[in-house]
This record gives sequence, C-alpha cells and structure tokens, in this order.
Amino acid sequence: MHLTKDEERILKGELGTGTQNAMEMLVAIGDAYDAEKMVPITRAHAAASGQEGDLYWAELLADGGAKCQVPTSTNPVYDLKYFHSLFKDIPKDEAEVARRVMQAYRKLGAIVSWSCVPYLCENIPLPCETVAFSESSATPYVNSVIGAYTNREAAQSALAAGVIGKVPKYGLLIKENRKATFLVDVKTSIEDEFDYTLLGYHVGKIVGYGIPALTGITRPPSTEELINFCAMSNTSGAIPMFYIPGYTVEASTVKEAFQNDMPKEKVTVTDRELKTAQEELQTTSGKIDFVQLGCPHYTLKQIADVARLLEEKKIHDGITFWVCTSGTTKLLADRVGYTKIIEKAGAHLVVDTCIDEPCWFAYKQKVGMTDSPKCAYYRRFKDVMVGRLEDCVDAAIKGKWR
Ligand code: F3S
Repeated sequence: MHLTKDEERILKGELGTGTQNAMEMLVAIGDAYDAEKMVPITRAHAAASGQEGDLYWAELLADGGAKCQVPTSTNPVYDLKYFHSLFKDIPKDEAEVARRVMQAYRKLGAIVSWSCVPYLCENIPLPCETVAFSESSATPYVNSVIGAYTNREAAQSALAAGVIGKVPKYGLLIKENRKATFLVDVKTSIEDEFDYTLLGYHVGKIVGYGIPALTGITRPPSTEELINFCAMSNTSGAIPMFYIPGYTVEASTVKEAFQNDMPKEKVTVTDRELKTAQEELQTTSGKIDFVQLGCPHYTLKQIADVARLLEEKKIHDGITFWVCTSGTTKLLADRVGYTKIIEKAGAHLVVDTCIDEPCWFAYKQKVGMTDSPKCAYYRRFKDVMVGRLEDCVDAAIKGKWR
C-alpha cells in the first residue's frame, strides 16, 4: 500500500508508539486486502467491551500517547458503582478489566457514549461519508440506511482508524464492492419490530457473509425495525450491508442493487422459517426469573412502548426487569416521564451496559426472557425464551410465559 510521507513518519514511530501501533494495524489490513492507499475518515465507532483483548489494545494506544483524531464513539461497558451496589458477585478481576477499559478510552479522547446505537444520536454520519464503524447493527445501518461508507470493522481496527483519522481504501469503500450478492424474496408479512428480528436472524444464517437484497417488503420499515434487522443479521451471519430497494438509500430497484448483474443466489423466506428461527432460539418455557430488553440499546420510542405497557402494572414478585439504553436516551426518558412509570412498575432503565458484560453474572443460573434473538444467542443465562415486547411484559407481570 502506498503511504504518504506523513503516514511513513507515523509508521516509524516519530509521533509516538500509540499512533505507530495503530498505523501498523491499518497498514497490515491494507496490505492484506491489496489496498492502494489510505483515505481520510470523518468518524469512527469502536465496539469497546469490558474484555481483555479490548483492554490490551486500548491501553497500548492510550499509554503510547495516541488521541482520537476524529469523533470516535464507544460501545457499552458498564457503570461499576451502579452494578456493585446491586450485585455482590461480579468477579473482581472482570470489574477491574471494565474499569481500565473505560479509563483507557477516556484517555484516548473518545466520545464515551457507551452505546451500541451511536448512529442515532452521539455520532451520526451523513450519506457518502467515509467512516470506520464496528458493532453488529452499526456497520450495516450506516452503510445501508444512511448511505455512509464503512467496512465491517473490528473494535480494534475502528479504534486504530479513529486514532489515525484514516483507513485503507478497500472493500465496501469502493462502489463496485457494494453490489448485492444474494436475493431474498420475503413471502410472508413482516409486521413489526419482532418480525424484523426473526427475519434478520434467518437472513444472516442463510447468507453468511454477503450483501442481501430483500424483495417483498410492502411498507417502509421503521428505524427500530431496521436496527433490529441489522443487529440480528450480524449475529447469525456477517452482513456488512443490505438493500431493501425502494426503502434503503443506495438502490431504488433490485437491478440497481445488483449493479445490473443477475442475482447468483436466491432464497425465499416464508412464515415457516421465521417460526423455526424463534423456536431454535428458545431453550425453555414456563417460569422466568427476569426479563432483559434493549439489545440493541432501546430507542426513546421503544422505551415509550415499555412505559405504555407497564403503566399502572406491577412486575411479579421475584422477577427483575431490565431495559438497556444509552445515557442520552435515558436523559430524555427521564424528562418525558417514562423512567418514572417504568420504575413505579418495578422495572429498571439502565445505561452504558450490554447483556454481554460481566455485570450480569448474577443471572448465570437463571431463566430469562427477551425480545432479542441476539441476547438469546449470546445466552449468558441458564435458559432463555424469546418473544415480542408485549409477551415479555406479560411474562414479567405473570411470572411465566406459555
Ligand atoms: Fe448492544 Fe450488547 Fe446487544 S452491544 S446489540 S446490547 S449484545
């Protein structure tokens, strides 16, 4: 890959070891993908986590004096103080990793948004911006829904890109590589957010790594439906972008999505496949210990839905009910009054965290219910049930489902 004089200087370590390490990673990626050069980015999103690999990389860059050169938002970790006051059994070494990860990102000058949907509020690209976004819903959302250009970055490569302010030009940064690879004909009605989660989960599974174009969708999807489709298709598969011609920005027809080529692979989705997806994810039925929502982080609209369903209701004794969201969304939920309604019913709106963090160790041996196939798939609990938001709320009130 050709490097400019300034890029060469960074690679030699003239600007410190932090930027040198970041540049080494980007050059290695560029060489692996035969990129010709580096190109500037306007923003990045690092799928930070409270895990060792992330800690190693973030501290290596931070201790080497690196600072983010473009707005770089961060994924959920967790608020140690909040969770330590609730649960006594968070392993000390895990908590220490999370604390140091958060500290390292602060030192790097990242936007410490701790949210997995940064493209809604804290770090929003415009169409045609070149960016470096990691995280399951974030990459396909900014490519497909916004029309920005990003590769499917890892937490580490996205952070390196944020620190250098550039990425190697390859893959989805080149228009020809954004061609659809798989036609998915949806022959069942997709009515709500939960249908989109199952559709995403199924499409990810059949496509694997590729760019699906979906036909048969008969109305414009909502923001939440698109977020769900993105997150779930990157749980069972690796979908860096997708098309719903007419509704997503880059192609108004199937022909355009396939850049005038004929689809090489085609599949039909019916009600049966979606039902099977739900059954596959479910490991039990009956009594539950807790409900977990907000994977991906709930939007204000979804929190409003929870508040509406919980108004004047009470969560069943012994059941805990968690709704994860971003700090900025919670601020609005507090102002509008949703938080009060949710807490009055006995549920909790919690910020900065993710179901995959060690702060949830207390639920390892418990049975949970969620509306998120992703939450069910990364199951950190003994058993799990998956259903619509209405089913989750109903189960929390009755203490059981089906
Ligand atoms: Fe977000 Fe964590 Fe779920 S990053 S999508 S809450 S697994």
